[in-house]
Amino acid sequence: MSPLEIGIIGMGNVGSGVAKILTNQSEMLERRAGRPIHIRKATVRDLGRDRGVTLPDGVLTVSIDEVVNDPEIALVVQLIGGIELARDIMLRCLKAGKNVVTANKALLCEHSEEIFATAKANNCCVAYEAAVAGGIPIIDVVGESLASNQLLSIEAILNGTSNFILTEMFNRDASYDEILQEAQQLGYAEADPTFDIDGTDAAQKLVLLTQLAWGTTVSLDDFPRQGIDTLELADLKYARELGYKVKLLATSRMVDGQLEMHVQPTLIKADRPLANIDGAFNAVSLLGDAVGRTWYCGPGAGQMPTASAVVSDIIDMALGRTQITFPKLEIWSESGADVVPKNEITSRFYLRFQVEDRPHVFADIADILGQHEISLASIIQHEAPELDATGEGGYPVVPLVVMTHRTQLGKLLAADEALSKLDALREPRVRLLVADQ
Ligand SMILES: NC(=O)c1ccc[n+]([C@@H]2O[C@H](COP(=O)([O-])OP(=O)(O)OC[C@H]3O[C@@H](n4cnc5c(N)ncnc54)[C@H](OP(=O)(O)O)[C@@H]3O)[C@@H](O)[C@H]2O)c1
Repeated sequence: MSPLEIGIIGMGNVGSGVAKILTNQSEMLERRAGRPIHIRKATVRDLGRDRGVTLPDGVLTVSIDEVVNDPEIALVVQLIGGIELARDIMLRCLKAGKNVVTANKALLCEHSEEIFATAKANNCCVAYEAAVAGGIPIIDVVGESLASNQLLSIEAILNGTSNFILTEMFNRDASYDEILQEAQQLGYAEADPTFDIDGTDAAQKLVLLTQLAWGTTVSLDDFPRQGIDTLELADLKYARELGYKVKLLATSRMVDGQLEMHVQPTLIKADRPLANIDGAFNAVSLLGDAVGRTWYCGPGAGQMPTASAVVSDIIDMALGRTQITFPKLEIWSESGADVVPKNEITSRFYLRFQVEDRPHVFADIADILGQHEISLASIIQHEAPELDATGEGGYPVVPLVVMTHRTQLGKLLAADEALSKLDALREPRVRLLVADQ
């Protein structure tokens, strides 16, 4: 058969990995795709940079137009980051009748409606297995393999950088700053790791999974999002004492026909599978009404795991399989479930207060929580760790850790407002979610 002519826009970390697989495994891929896959053009900014892969003369170009305007190119692999330029390229490719494979979750999270509508209008497909959880084929699972199920929940560790930092802090009793620096030296964290550690990256991926699973178009502002950047080692230690580990958990779950969504540092029972996903790995736990609970785990980023997902999408495109997943977004978007308002989310919570160790303080805190219908499951208070940690009245300041029963976030925020007025309370007041089982 005639080759599938592809154009790659962006030959950085992922794009070079894609070119390596396509070049090194060309015979195997030809058998699996039913025809040769041929890189016709690959766009970069800097022609002189070593890409770690040799392409025939004339393939590398600095011109995006050479890809978008080439009628021989049927499929564009769009692998530049950012949003505006990437959106422009995506829309131009689709309007030119080209299918697109991308790993750009930020772009899809922000502009999915426009992109999928444009794809539909032009009878094209967009495939994005690499945009969520890197090497774990979770888009395939949610979109196809579990299509027989009503999904009831998604719980996932979707950011490898955060998971690496939390794992090392927990295992080595080290501070956040110390491990972040180490993660940057080892290449697990970018020089600017903001979106990894503030929960944005995980939230973008959760938006894509949620849209695929329930047809709900959600924006990042629709649900609570907190990263690991404000976590203190003390909370990981208290979690351990209580029999939990802390993970940056991305959750979407159906509750009474509505979707509860959040990305939060969450205490998970130490013996649960998700609590034991360590290092830069990602993991996803799906609960389906027919299948029950299933787990998926693997490398969530990196050159070759991400390229592996991109090339699988290219093969699917060559075989026409992507058309199976794609129409669901269109059908389901009309029946998408509503997202529960932030304050109505319910969970158990871990609370840490810094309090003056003097009479009646705990009674005041318990009283305020009680007034807001928040009931307590357990309490830890240790002796003052440092003799010089004194409050204004000469009392030592000690941590007080409280685990609540299930309650609404809104009630907790209202209680927190009242607690902030107590003289005996110092900053910070820490609030983390606690997973159900
Ligand atoms: N890295 C991962 O592990 C990973 C995992 C999952 C998803 N992703 C997503 O995959 C996408 C690519 O990530 P990456 O890590 O491969 O990024 P990257 O290493 O920064 O590569 C970006 C590439 O785009 C090219 N480029 C940027 N602007 C251009 C322009 N105006 N014209 C022509 N070429 C341009 C760059 O050219 P030069 O090389 O000449 O500068 C570079 O080759 C992003 O959306 C990212 O979020 C990455």
